[in-house]
Amino acid sequence: MPETKFMDKAAFEKQLNEETKWIEDSIKKFLPTGVTYQKTIYDAMEYSLMAGGKRLRPMIMWETYKMYGGEDKEQVLPFMAAIEMIHTYSLVHDDLPAMDNDEYRRGKKTTHIVYGEDMGILAGDALLNYAYETAVSSLSEGGNIYVKARAVQILSKKAGLFGMLGGQVADVENTGKPLSEEKLGFIYSLKTGALIEAAFMTGAVLAGADSASIEALEKAGHNTGMAFQIQDDILDITSTSEELGKPVHSDEKNDKQTYVAVYGMDKALQAVKDYSESALDILNSQPVQNIYLNTLVEKLIGRRK
Ligand code: IPE
Ligand code: IPE
Ligand code: MG
Ligand code: MG
Ligand code: MG
Repeated sequence: MPETKFMDKAAFEKQLNEETKWIEDSIKKFLPTGVTYQKTIYDAMEYSLMAGGKRLRPMIMWETYKMYGGEDKEQVLPFMAAIEMIHTYSLVHDDLPAMDNDEYRRGKKTTHIVYGEDMGILAGDALLNYAYETAVSSLSEGGNIYVKARAVQILSKKAGLFGMLGGQVADVENTGKPLSEEKLGFIYSLKTGALIEAAFMTGAVLAGADSASIEALEKAGHNTGMAFQIQDDILDITSTSEELGKPVHSDEKNDKQTYVAVYGMDKALQAVKDYSESALDILNSQPVQNIYLNTLVEKLIGRRK
């Protein structure tokens, strides 16, 4: 296999900034219009969705779409907006007092702090529902309905009981309890891995990639997601709230048995590298290449936020 190719730092950063901005502007256009007495929830949705964030999941989706030959951004943008809405809802609910009880997110006060706990719950529900409204509406807007339906199927599964939500359930239920390697793997793979898998898969699905490629991308997403969550745990200890935009030591406060708590910092740092390299190997073994995506996955290893 040839060596994995990467972009140089300056070119990568330029593209990263431009793409993040483009995704942000594009997602904004998918926010609902015409609200009246539900306006508070519209405000809370906009507040949480537009608060910043790395936009990693829509970016990965866009990149695998292009990687497999997709050319029409209109086919993928509704799904990019949808996955970011689902991700944002997961964060709004994750921060609630009944869950991680955190007061900062994306450099701002959390949604429930600004709008109250009731509206925080409803804003999460609204984002989740609107994500599906957005994705499903696109089915009647031209393009290949079959691949769009398949993308909705993947997105909904990876967000639900057998995805992010299932992982959050096990995360919450096992808080403060000793965790087996198997259970920790289950939690990370679902609570964080699943949506990242969905991002890798749906972009390629929408571009018409074959099932062998989708299967490989699911694995690449799994490995990227594992690395991403372990790095998130590391940053909870080594970063600052200014840099991270969310509180540090949240895991310790909540008595979370994270990868770092169970295996120690050295092993955690190594695991981030190992999982990321496995993801890169899978991407490199594909018949088509995307060096921006390779660089993105590689840069996540040492990310500081
Ligand atoms: C935070 O996700 C929650 C985890 C899965 C660790 P991100 O780190 O992608 O959060 P944003 O979207 O950049 O705010
Ligand atoms: C949660 O993991 C991942 C989600 C599905 C929201 P964390 O609870 O560690 O995420 P942060 O650190 O609050 O972003
Ligand atoms: Mg949590
Ligand atoms: Mg949390
Ligand atoms: Mg965390």
